[in-house]
Amino acid sequence: MSPYSIQKIAVIGAGNMGSGIAQKIATEGYPVILVDVDDERVARGVGIIKSVLQQGVERRLFKPDQVEAILGRVHGTSDWDELSAADLVIEAVFEDLDVKRDVFRRLGAVCRTDAILGTNTSSFYVKDLAGVTSHPERVLGLHYFFHPAKNRLVEVIGHAGTDPAAFDAAWAVQEAIGKTPIRSADAPGFVVNRYFVPWLNEAVRLLEEGVADIPTIEAAAKQGFRIGMGPFELMNVTGVAIARHAADTLGRKLHAFYAPAQRLCDQVDAGRNWELGGAGPDPARSQAVIDRLLGITFYIAAKLVDEGVASVEDTDIGARVGLRWSKGPFDLLNRTGVERGRELARAALAPYGLELPALLTAAPAGGIPIRLVAVEDRGALTGVWINRPDAMNALNPAVGKQLAGAIAIARGLGKPLVIGGSGKAFVAGADIKFFVDNLKAGTFPKIQEFTEDGHALLHALSNGAEACVARVQGLALGGGAELAIACDWIVASPKASFGFPETGIGIVPGLGGTQRLARRIGEPLAKFLVYTGQILGAKQAVEIGLADQLATFADLDAACQRQASKGAVAERTAPAAPLAASWKRVWDFFDAHSVDQILSGQADTDGDAALDKAVQRMAQKSEHALRLAERLIDAGAALPLAAGLQLELDLLQEVFGHPDALEGLSSLLESRRPAFASA
Ligand SMILES: NC(=O)c1ccc[n+]([C@@H]2O[C@H](COP(=O)([O-])OP(=O)(O)OC[C@H]3O[C@@H](n4cnc5c(N)ncnc54)[C@H](O)[C@@H]3O)[C@@H](O)[C@H]2O)c1
Repeated sequence: MSPYSIQKIAVIGAGNMGSGIAQKIATEGYPVILVDVDDERVARGVGIIKSVLQQGVERRLFKPDQVEAILGRVHGTSDWDELSAADLVIEAVFEDLDVKRDVFRRLGAVCRTDAILGTNTSSFYVKDLAGVTSHPERVLGLHYFFHPAKNRLVEVIGHAGTDPAAFDAAWAVQEAIGKTPIRSADAPGFVVNRYFVPWLNEAVRLLEEGVADIPTIEAAAKQGFRIGMGPFELMNVTGVAIARHAADTLGRKLHAFYAPAQRLCDQVDAGRNWELGGAGPDPARSQAVIDRLLGITFYIAAKLVDEGVASVEDTDIGARVGLRWSKGPFDLLNRTGVERGRELARAALAPYGLELPALLTAAPAGGIPIRLVAVEDRGALTGVWINRPDAMNALNPAVGKQLAGAIAIARGLGKPLVIGGSGKAFVAGADIKFFVDNLKAGTFPKIQEFTEDGHALLHALSNGAEACVARVQGLALGGGAELAIACDWIVASPKASFGFPETGIGIVPGLGGTQRLARRIGEPLAKFLVYTGQILGAKQAVEIGLADQLATFADLDAACQRQASKGAVAERTAPAAPLAASWKRVWDFFDAHSVDQILSGQADTDGDAALDKAVQRMAQKSEHALRLAERLIDAGAALPLAAGLQLELDLLQEVFGHPDALEGLSSLLESRRPAFASA
């Protein structure tokens, strides 16, 4: 049991970052105290939140009553005594060491001795702030990115003396508020700024050295890193002076290589933004720009790992989630080719007398392994973690292959397994583009192979001597829900949701969903979920037995352990009645009526609103897919699980061979309503 229980969060500093952090916390349903030096500044911070949320209403991201509820959870105050109620305090005041130290001293006096204190500092060591408190073990870094209500990345930074339990508790809160946390050591620039700031600086050096002009550098950077804004435009938006200040800090703490270019200092001294216009980009100079930007990125990324600041995976996730690069540094390196990547890094470093990091020197020619799935020691359990938060952990052949490898390794360790995903989703389904590409190319065998591999993988999950628990902290859709139900147990966070949307995109659940679901919750409810694509929240999922336990984020890991201790489950037999009486009408309706009867209007809903809605939903689905799903669920009921699963595989060609499959899958990629041939 963790000694920390975080219910109430406070944010100190109601400026750009503090107000955004508070906004996010309140948006995710948690009360938050927002503190500043006086009432006027508190009101200003609350005003920032209101105006950002108002923009959200205009863009239809929020409804007015939602905004009201969010604002109702933000309590602004300049009375620091109120902080005695806080379990976690996130400091986001001016980036001034003396000011921050003062704040931490004051927090030490007003907060409870079990409160965790986090800092959003960008440039100071966490240890330097922890040092002024009487409980440095409860101090850590929580480095958010602008805009903190929109950018999902947060770097969680423990200093050498941080209590691991405090770190875990603060990490769990980040998950609870929909953030994607990565782990960083207490080092200059932490993870992302360590390469992003030099990346901006190098763009200025390229200009200074006359390698290219601004339009060329902008165009080349956008092309090379597949991003929407080049370095100069980014500096104009986020502040040219901030870029210089950040480079200055890194330069002083690390090496002259990181120090700001003279041209950057001059620009700040002149108080001007960069002039982005001018003659069009010069394509002849573009490769030289890309090479330099890649070279320094490869160097720093490898150095981060060498120094133990971050893992290869977190370094890449930081770039994709925090900076919205389409590929992280290591992925870019592997695509560039390790040999050439080394050359680029060497050439970019030549003026500074720096050596290549060992990771880069020793990197195999085939590329640095990037684990999409990690095997982790999680105390009494072995964790198998899917690590593609920016792609909602979607299953594709590469993930499937690594997942199979990870499960095999984890099974070999002899402990119960817990399977989870990083970021907001557990697993949001299978990679739709993979199916569309193969259908268009006429390469159905690849789909067959992927699905067969998926079946083998889920078989390995569901047939171990030790229990396997799905830790569903967010979305579990399609293949993700099938992955969860292949586990012995499912523990769901309050943010978990489950759904089988396949029939709405012209296919049927193909990774055991038509078989295992019925055995978990009964055929009638399985039909309801598969026919309607209805998404269930965690509470409803527990009500019908789809999930076994609901646990808060803080208790999620402990709940997984408790569930695992119940052992592996032998083959399930479908329940004969719904677990909760409130589901009886739905149960009876889908028990009594076939797809044909429902679609042709012969099934009487007796005016039940929920059933009417279910019937309406079915009318939007592919009729072909609905009939196949019915066939599979009905036939499966009379078969042992293994035979039912085989039947699902046997019908795969019938699923994907129908035009509804390509139409439905394509419609999802193209964000439009499908026009099914069979409906
Ligand atoms: N702006 C960014 O893009 C960004 C990104 C990541 C991290 N950060 C970090 O976040 C922190 C805040 O940055 P910001 O951009 O929000 O600054 P800001 O100037 O917008 O806001 C700072 C707020 O802190 C308040 N404040 C100052 N001293 C205080 C004190 N003693 N007690 C309570 N409140 C106090 C100020 O009144 C102000 O409202 C800094 O540490 C910064 O490095 C900023």
